Amino acid sequence: MKEAAQQIGKIKEYYEERSKNFHGQAIVSMPDQLLINLENQVLRKYLTRRGPLLDVGCANGYSTLEFAKTRPSISVRGVDYSESMIQDAKELLAKSPRQFQKRVSFGIGDVLGLKEKKSHYDQVVSKRCIINLPSWELQQKALQEFIRVLKPQGTLLLSEASAQGWRNMNRLRKEFGLNEIPQPWHNLYLDEEKLFPTLKPWMKLVENINFSSTYYIGSRVLQPFIIGKDKEPCFDSEINKLFTLFPNVGDYGTQKLYVFRKESS
Ligand SMILES: C[S@@+](CC[C@H](N)C(=O)[O-])C[C@H]1O[C@@H](n2cnc3c(N)ncnc32)[C@H](O)[C@@H]1O
Repeated sequence: MKEAAQQIGKIKEYYEERSKNFHGQAIVSMPDQLLINLENQVLRKYLTRRGPLLDVGCANGYSTLEFAKTRPSISVRGVDYSESMIQDAKELLAKSPRQFQKRVSFGIGDVLGLKEKKSHYDQVVSKRCIINLPSWELQQKALQEFIRVLKPQGTLLLSEASAQGWRNMNRLRKEFGLNEIPQPWHNLYLDEEKLFPTLKPWMKLVENINFSSTYYIGSRVLQPFIIGKDKEPCFDSEINKLFTLFPNVGDYGTQKLYVFRKESS
């Protein structure tokens, strides 16, 4: 318990630091801007026209504001446990047109104990947030929070790193003579074999979208293979850009979008 709390403290410090180094930029959450674009592109298709929408682990609000632009009729709230991320999000909002300021809000909130009301939201979006919790027990607690704040029939759009996709990608890398890409020290990727049965009593899995599979084949396998394994891969290379254009094949992407609908409280 004490160890988990210490680890959470270190992870929070890591994000506070990132918010200072990447002030107001999309890449505050991760260095791969093309992957962020792909993620938001697919997510936008699943945003409903009913609100309100909650974005949990919203960082500096870059994507939250994108969602608000896509759905001009709904109210949107972003929460994050990092004070400096929320400060940046509020600054970004203050620079946005007035109509956004009326229907978008940001506040400090911990996914392990959200201050939001029960059954309040039509949609909860959470991108790469709960992989920052150091155990499956804590991740389950966060998932229960999503269920609690969603209305019946509300949708959870969970865009997370999957242990299955990550393993498949590393198997493919191995066949190309490349070393395994480890999980970052601050992440614990979601295990679909635990995730789906755990949520089943409350949530129906509507879709499991491997939106990053083709992109990972290009950016995490072919690019390092072509440039040589001793060179540092470049996130905005032409190969990566090319692989954002191809249709998705296989299950080689770490990042996936799970669409769940709340069926029971
Ligand atoms: C990888 S970033 C993703 C940010 C944003 N969702 C995006 O896609 O750009 C993870 C975010 O989750 C936040 N986070 C991590 N653990 C959290 C927790 N327990 N409660 C709330 N936010 C958390 C971090 O501060 C960080 O902003």
